[in-house]
Amino acid sequence: MKVDILLGLQWGDEGKGKVVDVLTPRYDVVARFQGGPNAGHTLEFEGNKYVLRSIPSGIFQGGKVNIIGNGVVLDPVLFRDEAEQLAASGHDLTQRLCLSKKAHLILPTHRMLDAAYEAAKGAGKIGTTGKGIGPTYTDKVSRNGLRIGDIFEDFENRYNTLKARHEAILASLNYEYDITELEQRWFEAIEYLKKFQIIDSEHTINNLLKDGKSVLAEGAQGTMLDVDFGSYPFVTSSNTVCAGACTGLGVAPNRIGEVYGIFKAYCTRVGSGPFPTELFDADGEKMCNLGHEFGSVTGRRRRCGWIDLVALRYAIMVDGVTKLIMMKSDVLDTFETIKACVAYRVNGVETQELPYSIENVEPVYVELPGWQQDMTAVKSEEEFPQAFNDYIAFLERELGVPIAIVSVGPDREQTIERKL
Ligand code: GDP
Ligand code: IMO
Ligand code: MG
Repeated sequence: MKVDILLGLQWGDEGKGKVVDVLTPRYDVVARFQGGPNAGHTLEFEGNKYVLRSIPSGIFQGGKVNIIGNGVVLDPVLFRDEAEQLAASGHDLTQRLCLSKKAHLILPTHRMLDAAYEAAKGAGKIGTTGKGIGPTYTDKVSRNGLRIGDIFEDFENRYNTLKARHEAILASLNYEYDITELEQRWFEAIEYLKKFQIIDSEHTINNLLKDGKSVLAEGAQGTMLDVDFGSYPFVTSSNTVCAGACTGLGVAPNRIGEVYGIFKAYCTRVGSGPFPTELFDADGEKMCNLGHEFGSVTGRRRRCGWIDLVALRYAIMVDGVTKLIMMKSDVLDTFETIKACVAYRVNGVETQELPYSIENVEPVYVELPGWQQDMTAVKSEEEFPQAFNDYIAFLERELGVPIAIVSVGPDREQTIERKL
């Protein structure tokens, strides 16, 4: 069997959590392959709302194996909070959530370093989620990190060695902090991790595939936040692209099946960095209000703008997207006209190719008529208004990939699968 991948094509928060939950019944296994508690994946069903940060979005559809892969960075304290909250609401995960031994641990001092580096950057700060993501991946790549598999042997010594390195950096930055209480909770949470199955996840996943089981890999963040292909340096510290699923789970490229690329019918970004189609007018305000565009992790207001087809084409190219999923189209229900950026003007020259820097590009827009109809109760594509079908056909023509699923509201039920 193959591994299908679902990943974000914009700057994150496209609605990955919702769709992973919707698709889960078709799979045996759901696995997160990168990122950490910087993610906030929202699911709504039966009147309940859940926000998942490190735990895969496949946990609510019974009987599935859920895996936190080696490419993920895990904060034991936040993981414990998340798992205990789920247990309190009747979802005990200890028997069906597995953690990769090779996933790296976020230490309390990683969080402090994240804050210290941001403070040192001043106006040039990235606007990180403050969860220690960058410093943890830095330690992974510089071969100083601690992994979940390390917790069984000589752990405290190894912890102290790494902590001492961090303390020296924090002192050099004159960063003041107190982690006494956090550190205690952290060690308690390390013990808590032992309740879960700690596995060699690359073996587990490949054996399951060999046994004919199907796997859905869940991405975090989005392609424009990828450390190699995103709007560097305003990116996260992992490979959010399709290839990240291979390294983050230990599956070979020839094992990849469908690549579901998910995008909003408009566009948002949270944190600093260039955003060519960003709106500073009443339309942007309206998108923010109707789309409730506030970060699910930090509560920060998300910047809003029109859909950017230059960035989307680029994401589709580097990810090898085979099927598109359009989210939050209902947010545009009351717009008289809808704009789409089809090209950038760079130094007076039009281009459809994403340039090295998107800092000073000018978006070239086409305007389409809005459908001006409430879409939130629509159940099938036969009910789509003509202007909505025209928007879909326009996007498919521009992007060259079919839109397989359309989402018209946050609830699990507000999802329409198209007949392709
Ligand atoms: P993720 O990080 O990609 O999983 O996305 P987030 O959960 O951070 O952000 C998506 C937000 O939009 C959440 O609040 C979802 O409940 C909500 N959402 C998802 N799909 C739709 C949709 O089709 N319409 C509307 N109005 N909201 C949606
Ligand atoms: P999900 O999975 C949106 C952004 C931060 C910041 C940059 C780097 O919910 O889509 P980091 O803490 O990763 O070092 O921050 O990346 N960012 C996200 N933006 N959705 C996310 O995750 C994000 N995770 C990180 O705002 O600009
Ligand atoms: Mg999110």
